[in-house]
Amino acid sequence: MSDKEADTSVPIHDLIARRWSPRALDDTVEVSPEQLRAVLEAARWAPSFGNTQPARYLAGLRGDDTFRRILGTLTERNQSWAHRAGALLIGLAVTENEKGEIPYAEYGLGLAGQNLVLQAVAEGLVAHQMAGFDPDAVRREFTVPAGVRPAIAIAVGVLGAPEVLGDERGIARETAGRKRLPLEEFAFTGDWGEPLFATGRSHPPAG
Ligand SMILES: Cc1cc2nc3c(=O)[nH]c(=O)nc-3n(C[C@H](O)[C@H](O)[C@H](O)COP(=O)(O)O)c2cc1C
Repeated sequence: MSDKEADTSVPIHDLIARRWSPRALDDTVEVSPEQLRAVLEAARWAPSFGNTQPARYLAGLRGDDTFRRILGTLTERNQSWAHRAGALLIGLAVTENEKGEIPYAEYGLGLAGQNLVLQAVAEGLVAHQMAGFDPDAVRREFTVPAGVRPAIAIAVGVLGAPEVLGDERGIARETAGRKRLPLEEFAFTGDWGEPLFATGRSHPPAG
Protein backbone atom coordinates (compact mmCIF):
# COMPACT_ATOMS: atom_id res chain seq x y z
CA MET A 1 0.00 0.00 0.00
CA SER A 2 1.38 3.42 -0.93
CA ASP A 3 1.12 6.31 1.57
CA LYS A 4 -1.64 7.64 -0.59
CA GLU A 5 -3.84 4.57 -0.65
CA ALA A 6 -6.67 4.69 1.88
CA ASP A 7 -5.89 2.86 5.13
CA THR A 8 -9.15 1.02 5.76
CA SER A 9 -10.34 -1.27 8.56
CA VAL A 10 -11.77 -3.69 5.98
CA PRO A 11 -11.01 -3.96 2.27
CA ILE A 12 -13.00 -1.53 0.13
CA HIS A 13 -13.24 -1.27 -3.63
CA ASP A 14 -9.87 -0.69 -5.20
CA LEU A 15 -11.07 2.35 -7.17
CA ILE A 16 -12.13 4.08 -3.97
CA ALA A 17 -9.03 3.05 -2.03
CA ARG A 18 -6.67 4.28 -4.76
CA ARG A 19 -8.39 7.62 -5.46
CA TRP A 20 -6.68 10.70 -4.12
CA SER A 21 -6.17 14.31 -5.18
CA PRO A 22 -2.67 14.77 -6.59
CA ARG A 23 -1.22 18.10 -7.69
CA ALA A 24 1.87 16.62 -9.35
CA LEU A 25 0.62 15.92 -12.86
CA ASP A 26 2.60 14.72 -15.86
CA ASP A 27 2.25 17.21 -18.70
CA THR A 28 4.11 14.98 -21.14
CA VAL A 29 1.09 12.66 -21.34
CA GLU A 30 -2.30 13.59 -22.72
CA VAL A 31 -5.83 12.77 -21.67
CA SER A 32 -7.52 11.40 -24.79
CA PRO A 33 -10.91 12.58 -26.05
CA GLU A 34 -12.14 9.00 -25.36
CA GLN A 35 -11.02 9.20 -21.74
CA LEU A 36 -12.73 12.57 -21.36
CA ARG A 37 -15.88 11.10 -22.89
CA ALA A 38 -15.72 8.13 -20.45
CA VAL A 39 -15.46 10.30 -17.34
CA LEU A 40 -18.36 12.44 -18.53
CA GLU A 41 -20.45 9.37 -19.38
CA ALA A 42 -19.85 8.11 -15.84
CA ALA A 43 -20.97 11.49 -14.46
CA ARG A 44 -24.06 11.50 -16.71
CA TRP A 45 -25.26 8.24 -15.13
CA ALA A 46 -25.26 9.54 -11.57
CA PRO A 47 -28.50 9.37 -9.61
CA SER A 48 -30.38 12.60 -8.88
CA PHE A 49 -33.51 13.77 -7.07
CA GLY A 50 -36.51 12.75 -9.23
CA ASN A 51 -34.03 12.20 -12.09
CA THR A 52 -33.79 15.99 -12.43
CA GLN A 53 -30.16 15.58 -13.63
CA PRO A 54 -28.83 18.94 -12.40
CA ALA A 55 -25.16 18.35 -13.32
CA ARG A 56 -23.58 20.05 -16.33
CA TYR A 57 -19.93 20.37 -17.37
CA LEU A 58 -17.69 22.69 -19.33
CA ALA A 59 -14.60 20.77 -20.41
CA GLY A 60 -11.43 21.32 -22.40
CA LEU A 61 -8.34 19.32 -23.27
CA ARG A 62 -4.87 20.81 -22.72
CA GLY A 63 -3.99 22.90 -25.75
CA ASP A 64 -7.54 23.87 -26.64
CA ASP A 65 -9.28 27.18 -26.09
CA THR A 66 -11.72 25.96 -23.41
CA PHE A 67 -8.85 24.54 -21.32
CA ARG A 68 -7.07 27.89 -21.49
CA ARG A 69 -10.22 29.78 -20.52
CA ILE A 70 -11.00 27.46 -17.58
CA LEU A 71 -7.39 27.70 -16.39
CA GLY A 72 -7.76 31.50 -16.38
CA THR A 73 -10.65 31.27 -13.89
CA LEU A 74 -8.64 29.27 -11.31
CA THR A 75 -6.89 30.88 -8.36
CA GLU A 76 -3.17 31.46 -8.94
CA ARG A 77 -2.40 28.71 -6.45
CA ASN A 78 -4.47 26.16 -8.34
CA GLN A 79 -3.17 27.41 -11.71
CA SER A 80 0.39 26.75 -10.52
CA TRP A 81 -0.18 22.97 -10.72
CA ALA A 82 -3.42 22.50 -12.68
CA HIS A 83 -1.85 23.79 -15.91
CA ARG A 84 -0.26 20.33 -16.22
CA ALA A 85 -3.66 18.61 -16.29
CA GLY A 86 -4.71 16.85 -19.47
CA ALA A 87 -8.25 18.16 -19.10
CA LEU A 88 -9.91 20.88 -17.07
CA LEU A 89 -13.58 20.91 -16.27
CA ILE A 90 -16.07 23.13 -14.51
CA GLY A 91 -19.00 21.36 -12.85
CA LEU A 92 -22.18 23.42 -12.83
CA ALA A 93 -25.47 22.80 -11.02
CA VAL A 94 -28.74 23.65 -12.71
CA THR A 95 -30.49 25.00 -9.63
CA GLU A 96 -33.69 26.26 -11.29
CA ASN A 97 -35.90 25.28 -14.18
CA GLU A 98 -39.28 26.51 -15.47
CA LYS A 99 -41.00 24.86 -12.46
CA GLY A 100 -38.78 26.67 -9.95
CA GLU A 101 -35.95 25.56 -7.72
CA ILE A 102 -34.51 22.08 -8.34
CA PRO A 103 -34.20 20.33 -4.98
CA TYR A 104 -30.84 18.75 -4.13
CA ALA A 105 -29.17 20.22 -7.23
CA GLU A 106 -25.74 20.51 -5.63
CA TYR A 107 -26.09 17.07 -4.08
CA GLY A 108 -26.74 15.77 -7.59
CA LEU A 109 -23.69 17.56 -8.96
CA GLY A 110 -21.62 16.05 -6.14
CA LEU A 111 -22.77 12.55 -7.01
CA ALA A 112 -21.93 13.16 -10.66
CA GLY A 113 -18.54 14.49 -9.58
CA GLN A 114 -17.67 11.37 -7.63
CA ASN A 115 -18.71 9.18 -10.58
CA LEU A 116 -16.44 11.29 -12.77
CA VAL A 117 -13.50 11.07 -10.39
CA LEU A 118 -13.78 7.29 -9.91
CA GLN A 119 -14.08 6.72 -13.66
CA ALA A 120 -10.90 8.77 -14.05
CA VAL A 121 -9.14 6.33 -11.68
CA ALA A 122 -10.54 3.42 -13.70
CA GLU A 123 -9.05 5.04 -16.83
CA GLY A 124 -5.61 5.11 -15.18
CA LEU A 125 -5.93 8.84 -14.61
CA VAL A 126 -6.21 11.05 -11.53
CA ALA A 127 -8.69 13.81 -10.77
CA HIS A 128 -8.48 16.77 -8.41
CA GLN A 129 -11.51 18.89 -7.52
CA MET A 130 -11.10 22.59 -6.77
CA ALA A 131 -13.26 25.21 -5.09
CA GLY A 132 -10.45 27.67 -5.84
CA PHE A 133 -11.82 29.32 -8.97
CA ASP A 134 -13.89 32.41 -9.76
CA PRO A 135 -17.53 31.44 -10.50
CA ASP A 136 -18.32 34.94 -11.80
CA ALA A 137 -15.42 34.73 -14.24
CA VAL A 138 -16.83 31.38 -15.46
CA ARG A 139 -20.26 32.99 -15.90
CA ARG A 140 -18.78 35.81 -17.97
CA GLU A 141 -16.30 33.72 -19.93
CA PHE A 142 -18.80 31.01 -20.94
CA THR A 143 -22.07 33.00 -20.94
CA VAL A 144 -23.60 30.74 -18.29
CA PRO A 145 -27.36 31.35 -18.05
CA ALA A 146 -29.26 32.34 -14.89
CA GLY A 147 -30.30 29.36 -12.77
CA VAL A 148 -27.01 27.57 -13.43
CA ARG A 149 -24.28 27.76 -10.77
CA PRO A 150 -20.60 27.10 -11.52
CA ALA A 151 -19.76 25.04 -8.43
CA ILE A 152 -16.49 23.14 -8.89
CA ALA A 153 -13.41 22.99 -11.09
CA ILE A 154 -11.83 19.59 -11.78
CA ALA A 155 -8.37 18.78 -13.09
CA VAL A 156 -8.05 15.38 -14.76
CA GLY A 157 -4.61 14.15 -15.70
CA VAL A 158 -1.84 11.64 -15.42
CA LEU A 159 0.01 11.26 -12.12
CA GLY A 160 3.48 12.80 -12.27
CA ALA A 161 6.55 12.75 -10.01
CA PRO A 162 6.16 14.93 -6.89
CA GLU A 163 9.32 16.81 -7.97
CA VAL A 164 7.44 18.56 -10.79
CA LEU A 165 5.92 20.76 -8.09
CA GLY A 166 9.34 22.34 -7.56
CA ASP A 167 8.99 23.55 -3.96
CA GLU A 168 9.77 21.44 -0.89
CA ARG A 169 6.53 22.19 0.94
CA GLY A 170 4.51 21.16 -2.07
CA ILE A 171 6.50 17.94 -2.44
CA ALA A 172 6.11 17.13 1.29
CA ARG A 173 2.34 17.66 1.07
CA GLU A 174 2.16 15.57 -2.07
CA THR A 175 3.93 12.61 -0.46
CA ALA A 176 2.34 12.81 3.03
CA GLY A 177 -0.05 10.10 4.22
CA ARG A 178 -3.78 10.74 4.01
CA LYS A 179 -5.98 11.06 7.08
CA ARG A 180 -9.65 10.56 7.87
CA LEU A 181 -11.79 10.65 10.98
CA PRO A 182 -11.79 7.27 12.68
CA LEU A 183 -14.87 5.15 11.92
CA GLU A 184 -16.07 5.47 15.52
CA GLU A 185 -16.41 9.26 15.05
CA PHE A 186 -18.10 8.80 11.69
CA ALA A 187 -20.93 6.30 12.04
CA PHE A 188 -23.17 6.08 15.09
CA THR A 189 -25.86 3.78 16.39
CA GLY A 190 -28.30 4.36 19.20
CA ASP A 191 -27.62 7.94 20.36
CA TRP A 192 -25.54 10.46 18.48
CA GLY A 193 -21.88 9.82 19.23
CA GLU A 194 -22.20 6.13 20.10
CA PRO A 195 -19.85 4.38 17.70
CA LEU A 196 -21.39 1.78 15.45
CA PHE A 197 -17.99 0.18 14.95
CA ALA A 198 -15.14 0.19 17.44
CA THR A 199 -11.58 0.61 16.14
CA GLY A 200 -10.25 -2.37 14.31
CA ARG A 201 -13.52 -4.28 14.36
CA SER A 202 -15.18 -5.25 11.15
CA HIS A 203 -18.57 -6.02 12.76
CA PRO A 204 -20.78 -4.12 15.19
CA PRO A 205 -19.95 -4.95 18.80
CA ALA A 206 -22.11 -7.80 20.09
CA GLY A 207 -24.94 -7.20 22.61
C1 LIG B 1 -15.36 20.72 -2.89
C2 LIG B 1 -13.85 20.55 -2.90
C3 LIG B 1 -13.05 21.66 -3.10
C4 LIG B 1 -11.65 21.53 -3.15
N1 LIG B 1 -10.87 22.63 -3.45
C5 LIG B 1 -9.54 22.47 -3.66
C6 LIG B 1 -8.76 23.54 -4.18
O1 LIG B 1 -9.25 24.63 -4.52
N2 LIG B 1 -7.42 23.33 -4.34
C7 LIG B 1 -6.83 22.14 -4.03
O2 LIG B 1 -5.61 22.02 -4.21
N3 LIG B 1 -7.56 21.09 -3.56
C8 LIG B 1 -8.90 21.21 -3.38
N4 LIG B 1 -9.67 20.14 -2.98
C9 LIG B 1 -9.03 18.84 -2.69
C10 LIG B 1 -9.12 18.51 -1.19
O3 LIG B 1 -8.20 19.28 -0.49
C11 LIG B 1 -8.90 17.00 -1.00
O4 LIG B 1 -9.93 16.27 -1.64
C12 LIG B 1 -8.87 16.63 0.48
O5 LIG B 1 -7.76 17.21 1.12
C13 LIG B 1 -8.83 15.13 0.71
O6 LIG B 1 -7.72 14.58 0.02
P1 LIG B 1 -7.85 13.40 -1.02
O7 LIG B 1 -8.81 13.86 -2.09
O8 LIG B 1 -6.46 13.20 -1.57
O9 LIG B 1 -8.40 12.21 -0.30
C14 LIG B 1 -11.05 20.25 -2.94
C15 LIG B 1 -11.89 19.13 -2.76
C16 LIG B 1 -13.27 19.26 -2.77
C17 LIG B 1 -14.13 18.03 -2.64
